[in-house]
Amino acid sequence: MAPSVAIAITLHTCRLNMRGLLDWFDENARPLPWRIQKVTPWESLLAEIILQQTRMETGLPYWERIRSAYPNPAALANDTEENLLRLWQGCGYYARARNLYKLATTLDGAELPTSYDALLELPGIGPYTAAAIASMAFGESVACVDGNVRRVISRLRAEHLADAEIQHEATALLNHQRPGDWNQAMMEIGSLVCTPRNPDCDNCPLESKCLAGKSSNPEEWPLRRSTKQTHINATALVISGEHGVLLKARQGRTLGGLWGVPYAEGVAETANLLQGRKTKKIGKIRHDFTHKRLEITVYTSEARVDDILHHPDSVPLATLDRKVLNLHKGHLGEQY
Ligand code: ADE
Ligand code: SF4
Repeated sequence: MAPSVAIAITLHTCRLNMRGLLDWFDENARPLPWRIQKVTPWESLLAEIILQQTRMETGLPYWERIRSAYPNPAALANDTEENLLRLWQGCGYYARARNLYKLATTLDGAELPTSYDALLELPGIGPYTAAAIASMAFGESVACVDGNVRRVISRLRAEHLADAEIQHEATALLNHQRPGDWNQAMMEIGSLVCTPRNPDCDNCPLESKCLAGKSSNPEEWPLRRSTKQTHINATALVISGEHGVLLKARQGRTLGGLWGVPYAEGVAETANLLQGRKTKKIGKIRHDFTHKRLEITVYTSEARVDDILHHPDSVPLATLDRKVLNLHKGHLGEQY
């Protein structure tokens, strides 16, 4: 076959495929805020950072709050990291908030850069986020791959592909007239049709091109990444008094920047935590992070005169500490 004929056939197949997906998208996309109103690249960035690790339903109210508090990067840079964390509390993966703050201060009053390569240089921006913003806000032809896209592409090919191969396939499929919509359409198919457990192949615009869709078990692809959780026993100590609870700014990667009650993991650390106070055990709570499951035994103790107490609503707290304080509140049968 002459090379030009081969190219013509390839283009033809791709175009059929693409038209179908974009038509489907135009008719079926959820009316997400950035699809029905104009949003700035910054607002789009906030949405993508939140939605990459938080479900749409949970993430949307956070996006609304954070974009109205910080309509541009300079507004965030002029505020404190702690105030951002306060708006972020309960949304999880707090490193995102700390990185976002770093990003805003790095920009130092400038607007976001407009290319994939420049976006990728910014703190907290990985290939997914850079491609999402470059394509959706600036129309650059770059394919973005998140968990949804990975699943759809693995099924189209009915193969367990490595990350680099998925990226390669996503790039080959990309529609260059509407790269932002194409990327969103791939994600939308993954959210609404090609779901992890029950892909609805009969109503999928990609069905005629999909190898997994022709099999009896499309949900077999891709291989699931094991999310093995370590089980950890931990201890939390609620020291309370008339003026609130003893809370300190936490350190560390997971909850750094947020405040919390004194807390320890491990036997020696627990003994250390409880030492020198008259404590009482009030119950246990469970809390899951992606890679660890905590079983937290909660103790309480009366504050001493030299303890510095805070009202829990005056500082940013993680969900874990909210749970601990709720247990304590129930135990006291009263409000702080
Ligand atoms: N998940 C994250 N960003 C998204 C977007 N822009 N559209 C659909 N799903 C998404
Ligand atoms: Fe997923 Fe089925 Fe569509 Fe293939 S045909 S992309 S397996 S929903």
